[in-house]
Amino acid sequence: MMTRNPPPEGIDSTRPNVARIYDFLLGGKDNFAVDREAARQLIAVTPDMAGVVRDNRSFLGRVIRYLADEAGIRQFLDLGGGLPTRTNVHEMAQSIAQDARVVYVDNDPVVWSHGQALLARGDQVAMVRADLREPDDVLRRPEVLALLDLDRPVAVVCASVLHFVPDDDKPYQVIAEYRDRLAPGSYLAVSHGTTATAEEDPGDVVGGVTSVYRQASAQLHVRSRAGIQSFFDGFEMVAPGVVWINEWRPGRGFRPAGQPRSLRGGVGRKPGAAR
Ligand SMILES: C[S@@+](CC[C@H](N)C(=O)[O-])C[C@H]1O[C@@H](n2cnc3c(N)ncnc32)[C@H](O)[C@@H]1O
Repeated sequence: MMTRNPPPEGIDSTRPNVARIYDFLLGGKDNFAVDREAARQLIAVTPDMAGVVRDNRSFLGRVIRYLADEAGIRQFLDLGGGLPTRTNVHEMAQSIAQDARVVYVDNDPVVWSHGQALLARGDQVAMVRADLREPDDVLRRPEVLALLDLDRPVAVVCASVLHFVPDDDKPYQVIAEYRDRLAPGSYLAVSHGTTATAEEDPGDVVGGVTSVYRQASAQLHVRSRAGIQSFFDGFEMVAPGVVWINEWRPGRGFRPAGQPRSLRGGVGRKPGAAR
């Protein structure tokens, strides 16, 4: 959207938008001048902000590979999936298991319209415009029910999105509702902006980033390690638990790209035998 055309209806081009800022940081073109300005402010706070975003995508790639390969998951519900980018979750999953099915959920109109265009070619992928804070609505959508068998294990992926849900919107209750509706053997994967000690973050990058997001379409609510762990109540953690994302099964040859103390993440499994 680096074009000069007016934005499509329902799209606010005057306020920085979390999906489009992220797109710009990833090198995408689906963003407006306000988003690029906010991204520049983030880069002024921490020059390797684009690296943080790349590290998050790399974490997501390792998680999806683990889920599709080692855990044998074939159904994915990607909450806050974001704008289509170079390698999307369905491409990651289908490169391991061709029959993997993915439903993306996002409440942003730009994400939805670009997602529709991208997904027009696949019958194992869908994009739903919905708010993740309403699990009952999400889990009853026809696109979800058409692609995902909720009686069998599903991986719910929340990459870099739960930090846009304030405590007042009851994010723990929301995730617990997904958990309770999922079959045993399902998984939850989370990456999340996090608080750091003065020693870990001497320049208060987290504070600076949080203040840039104050003017955006959604505000940033970073949480402590314990706060992120609490999303996994009722799940058994996959080793190594909730850690800095670059420390989650990095594998040989892994090179971090950004500020290492920004996001924590983990993967948990709902106990019980998968049907
Ligand atoms: C930073 S992007 C992350 C994209 C992708 N998950 C990733 O990690 O690369 C956050 C996405 O979450 C979406 N989002 C934020 N709040 C949401 C909500 N309440 N329901 C659904 N999507 C939401 C935004 O529109 C945006 O596309």
